[in-house]
Amino acid sequence: MIAFDYCTPTEYVFGPDTETRAGELSKEKLGNRLLIVYGGGSAERSGLLGRVRRSLTDAGIQFKELGGVKPNPTDDLVYQGIELCRREDLNAVLAVGGGSAIDTAKAIAGGVPYEGDFWDFWAGKAVMDKALPVGVILTIAAAGSEGSGNSVITKIDGEIKISLRTNVLRPKFAIMNPKLTETLPEYQTACGITDMMAHIMERYFSNTPDCEVTDRLCEGLLTAIINEAPKVMADPENYQARANIMWAGTLAHNGICGCGRQEEWTCHAMEHEISALYGVAHGAGLAVVFPAWMEYVSQYNSDKIIQFGRRIFGVDSAPEAIAELRRFYSSIGMPLTMKELGISSPDIELMNTKLHRAKGAVIGNYVPLDGTATAKIYELMSLS
Ligand code: NZQ
Ligand code: ZN
Repeated sequence: MIAFDYCTPTEYVFGPDTETRAGELSKEKLGNRLLIVYGGGSAERSGLLGRVRRSLTDAGIQFKELGGVKPNPTDDLVYQGIELCRREDLNAVLAVGGGSAIDTAKAIAGGVPYEGDFWDFWAGKAVMDKALPVGVILTIAAAGSEGSGNSVITKIDGEIKISLRTNVLRPKFAIMNPKLTETLPEYQTACGITDMMAHIMERYFSNTPDCEVTDRLCEGLLTAIINEAPKVMADPENYQARANIMWAGTLAHNGICGCGRQEEWTCHAMEHEISALYGVAHGAGLAVVFPAWMEYVSQYNSDKIIQFGRRIFGVDSAPEAIAELRRFYSSIGMPLTMKELGISSPDIELMNTKLHRAKGAVIGNYVPLDGTATAKIYELMSLS
């Protein structure tokens, strides 16, 4: 194991009807003048927003609203939110939704106290050292943003999708009612499952030796997700399975699976180029990227992939491990190729150029990859 700092200040408030505590928790941890940030309408339709507004009003909290966040959220709404907070003198942000609403809320929170352009932080031109406090009411188990310090935003000009990671943006609280995820379309449930598995695997495929505890944590979570997934897919109203999947999504990405080891994140970087350009769901993109990456890197370093196969699927070789993973993705309705993702002629050259412009000439740790290698991986995804 290598040395680490692990900070997880978020209070998780988990269970049925927990959204009715939004007012009490906001008053204690956020302040009395909030901006609520939400997505394209699911939270309004389900009645959740109504319950949240009531809870805030009952607690004496004033608020303004910014709706309309789209999946793979863009910088335009962040600028609007920053402007609104400054104009209305709002001192905290409450996200109601999934990764897209939460990441927008975090970006607004980081941008308000900064005099320059908020994008400076994402572009690596400035380091964020303060932000307005952020609270979360989660409606989809997927991105893990409710417990992470990450915010992934796409700059419309140039279609540049970047993930910023800083402890400053970790939410003060996350309200997690698994029942709220019962209204998710099947495809989004499956995308969420794929994304949380990828968050674990990006930490698992590491060359750092002697990480028995984090290895076993990762394997335990992956096994639990694979066992619970068919239950939620078959019965979207299975509360216990929804609850297990929701908690797994948080633990997958709040940092605990990465303690003491070097992390990977090549597949995420490669996927972000796909969703930035083609607007696909991030989880679905990962179902295409991850097995292709494993196929390529296992030619050079197969140790951890073989261990993954043995301990997760009970198979003995890297090709069998990859085949099992593909079989699982397929079983929950995920695509396996660019074509199945709806991209008939992917612009590999453009994605690859943008990837290395953002991440440098060589990316990754498990097997460091140059531009020729990542182009081959994009090609593997485009076969058939
Ligand atoms: O916009 P609404 O109407 O709410 O609909 C959303 C959206 O269409 C819908 N939805 C969410 N909860 C629902 C629901 N529909 C019915 N019932 C519910 N309870 O689901 C769709 C997807 O929502 P979104 O917030 O985009 O999903 P997700 O949580 O997967 O977030 C994806 C974004 O997070 C980023 C991704 O790149 C992508 O931009 N990520 C953020 C991370 C982080 N901050 O730590 C890490 C991840 O690796 C990821 O990159
Ligand atoms: Zn992800």
